Amino acid sequence: MPESKKIPKKELPCYLQGRKLTFFVAEDVESLITDVNDPDKVPCWADIWPAAYGLANFIWKSVTFNPAKKVLELGAGMGLPGIVCALKGASVTLSDFNPLALEMAGENARHNGLEVELLREDWRTFSCREQFDCLIASDILYDPRLNPFLGRIFYENLRPGGKILVSHSCRTVTYDFLKEWHDKSLFGREDYMEEVELSGTLLPRYEIAIHVFKALR
Ligand SMILES: C[S@@+](CC[C@H](N)C(=O)[O-])C[C@H]1O[C@@H](n2cnc3c(N)ncnc32)[C@H](O)[C@@H]1O
Repeated sequence: MPESKKIPKKELPCYLQGRKLTFFVAEDVESLITDVNDPDKVPCWADIWPAAYGLANFIWKSVTFNPAKKVLELGAGMGLPGIVCALKGASVTLSDFNPLALEMAGENARHNGLEVELLREDWRTFSCREQFDCLIASDILYDPRLNPFLGRIFYENLRPGGKILVSHSCRTVTYDFLKEWHDKSLFGREDYMEEVELSGTLLPRYEIAIHVFKALR
């Protein structure tokens, strides 16, 4: 039996303009904590973060994909923005270092009638050499020790002319890293804001920063 079947889950509706998706996330994220001293064991993969809703809405409204376009979502967790790319016709790979996250993300894709590839990779030891047309990063640039590894993946795993979509809840650490990374890069940059309303969460409304980086060559 897949390990994720043992995790009690709750159903979460996800409303895009004119379309409803259904996701399953852990019912009690805190019960999945096994070691409070190890940041790698924080079960932040087991829910959908506000930044993922913001990016999913943005992609649904504003991004088009040819069917042949390949998308890689990094730190996908439950995989919402990547699954929306699949819904828009892209060929999608969801990646995470947590195997339970990947199992649940794959189930979420199938539950919505979509097929995705799953890739287990740690940013610190990233061995995938494939290049993608689009990289997606929803609320993953939060740790200054990990951000440089992601900055390298942005360079090595993006096709020439490709784009990177980043979202976050207006985190200073993310803004700072992206400014430094972009100052040294050959990428165009566009910034957007998405408002996300979520009932039953800490705050009813979140401002989500979206950044689109386009490789200039
Ligand atoms: C804050 S959660 C965001 C999850 C999802 N992107 C979202 O916005 O709902 C961070 C995600 O990054 C993954 N992650 C953390 N450290 C990682 C690492 N070193 N390599 C790969 N994935 C990692 C976690 O498992 C988790 O799914």
